[in-house]
Amino acid sequence: MKRFLAGKVSEIPEGSKKIIQAEGRSVGVYNIAGQYYALRNTCPHQGAELCSGITASYITSSGPGDFVYEREGEIVRCPWHQWEFDIKTGCMITDPKMRTKTYDVTVERYDVSVEENQVYVHL
Ligand code: FES
Repeated sequence: MKRFLAGKVSEIPEGSKKIIQAEGRSVGVYNIAGQYYALRNTCPHQGAELCSGITASYITSSGPGDFVYEREGEIVRCPWHQWEFDIKTGCMITDPKMRTKTYDVTVERYDVSVEENQVYVHL
């Protein structure tokens, strides 16, 4: 497994992301509550730059007018067709009742480490 410098810790403060190039791959490195996560910057749907999408909350509802925002900043929404992915796992967010085999997709996720105030991505 190779490791790639993503940047200094100060370059990726909590709640932010940085897109890097590593071995010809574009990778989004996220800082969620002090933990780093990395996703391949390619949407498995039609190839958009997934990590250029906004980060959002996971929204649930028990009925009309009731919205609960959970897991703030842990979801990335693809800029092309708004598919949402869990940044921590790379898995697509779907309502299990609406889930079909076609939508059973994942985004490649890489390990991330912090050493001497530098963030590395392991491919
Ligand atoms: S390309 Fe990402 S949702 Fe379509």
